[in-house]
Amino acid sequence: MTITAGTKLGRYEIRAKIGEGGMGEVYVAQDTKLDRKIALKVLPADLASNRDRMERFVREAKSAAALNHPHIAHIYEIGESEGVNFIAMEYIDGETLREKIHRDKTPLSKLLKYLMQVAEGLAKAHSAGIVHRDLKPDNIMITRDDYAKILDFGLAKLVEPQMPLIPATLVQVKLPLPSWLSIRSPAW
Ligand SMILES: Nc1ncnc2c1ncn2[C@@H]1O[C@H](COP(=O)(O)OP(=O)(O)O)[C@@H](O)[C@H]1O
Ligand SMILES: [Mg+2]
Repeated sequence: MTITAGTKLGRYEIRAKIGEGGMGEVYVAQDTKLDRKIALKVLPADLASNRDRMERFVREAKSAAALNHPHIAHIYEIGESEGVNFIAMEYIDGETLREKIHRDKTPLSKLLKYLMQVAEGLAKAHSAGIVHRDLKPDNIMITRDDYAKILDFGLAKLVEPQMPLIPATLVQVKLPLPSWLSIRSPAW
């Protein structure tokens, strides 16, 4: 099925494409029952037949749906219409943190505020035993009202909740850094 403005997927009517990621396309749509804007993440038909992709898609919906937090995008439902699988979620009116930091010079205090909010969302996820595993500026949205919201629990993993914390002084962990994160060694 070709998805364009006006396409109906169950109760949702597509308005426009707003994003694209590793797993599918994201559209803004109208929920015709509740009369509100929502975001629909659609898994392309060719990927729906791929078991790994389908599992990742369902995992994303379940992980995020298990969480109810102001800094995590809300999941409304996971559905299928005429062979098209989709996740209906809260529409976030804003831009990704990546777009924002590439567009203007955001003051450090503001960036820290966003990251504190993201940390609160992650703490909530961690207390529910869910680890995001793909946190990056593309997966954080900043709303027009200036709040951060975490997206994309597609790579999330369920772990034992409340694992004992190992004091950082007892372990030395060397993690590979993703290319978008550049950290300079301190001068001392
Ligand atoms: N709920 C949403 N509201 C508004 N835009 C969204 C929403 N979810 C995703 N997007 C847009 O779509 C892009 C891809 O979404 P994401 O969930 O990261 O999918 P993927 O798994 O494909 O990377 C995001 O970077 C963002 O621009
Ligand atoms: Mg993403």
